[in-house]
Amino acid sequence: MIQIRDEIASDIGLRERLLDACFGPGRFLKTSQRLRDGRLPARGLALTATRDDRVVGTVRLWDVETGCGRPALLLGPLAVDPAAQGLGLGGLLMRAALARAGEHGHGAVLLVGDAPYYARFGFAPDRAAGLAMPGPFERERFLGLDLRARALDGANGTLRATGALDTLPAVAAEAAAMAARRQAA
Ligand SMILES: CC(C)(COP(=O)(O)OP(=O)(O)OC[C@H]1O[C@@H](n2cnc3c(N)ncnc32)[C@H](O)[C@@H]1OP(=O)(O)O)[C@@H](O)C(=O)NCCC(=O)NCCS
Repeated sequence: MIQIRDEIASDIGLRERLLDACFGPGRFLKTSQRLRDGRLPARGLALTATRDDRVVGTVRLWDVETGCGRPALLLGPLAVDPAAQGLGLGGLLMRAALARAGEHGHGAVLLVGDAPYYARFGFAPDRAAGLAMPGPFERERFLGLDLRARALDGANGTLRATGALDTLPAVAAEAAAMAARRQAA
C-alpha cells in the first residue's frame, strides 16, 4: 500500500540514504543546499512516501524570501527510490506537497530541477525570470509556480533563507563536546 504522510524522526536516516542513492555526494554542493543548511523545512512541508511501510520517497519545502522581500517556498530535494520510480509516486508527492503549501497559505514555490518533469505541475522558468539563486545555478532549470494568482509577478532579486534554525546539530555537537570533556576529566 502506498501512503504519503508527514516525515517522522525515524524516516531521516532512510531519507538520507535515498537521497544519496538518487543524487550522490554532489547533492551537498548545490546552491539550493545553501538555502537549506542549518534550517528546518517549512512547517508541515516535509513529506515521506511509503510503500508497504517502507520509505520510498521524500520531498521537503523551505521558507525563503526574494530579494524584494516576498515570501516563497523552495522545493527540494524530491526523490523516489529507483526501484519504485515510474509508479506515480513522484506525482503523488508533488501534488500532496503543493496542496499542503496552499493550505498553509503560501503563495509561490520555486525550485531548481528538470523543467520537462516539473512542467506537468505548472512550474515554468518565466515565473522565476527576475529571481536569482545565491550561487551558481542553471537559469533554464530555475522554475516558479504561483499557488496564489500572480504571486510571483514582478518578484526579483536573490533568494535568501528565512526558515527556522535547526538547533539539533548544535545540540548534538555540544553533547559530544560534553562527553569528550567528561572522558578527559
Ligand atoms: C524525478 C522523480 C522524482 C520522478 O518520480 P517518479 O515516481 O518516477 O515519477 P512519476 O511516476 O510520478 O512520473 C513518471 C513520469 O515522469 C517522467 N520523468 C521522470 N523523471 C523525469 C525527468 N528527470 N525529466 C522529465 N521527465 C521525467 C517519466 O518519464 C514519466 O513520464 P510519463 O508519465 O509521461 O510516463 C524520480 O525519477 C527521481 O527520484 N529521480 C532521481 C532524482 C531526481 O532527479 N529528482 C528531481 C528531478 S530534478
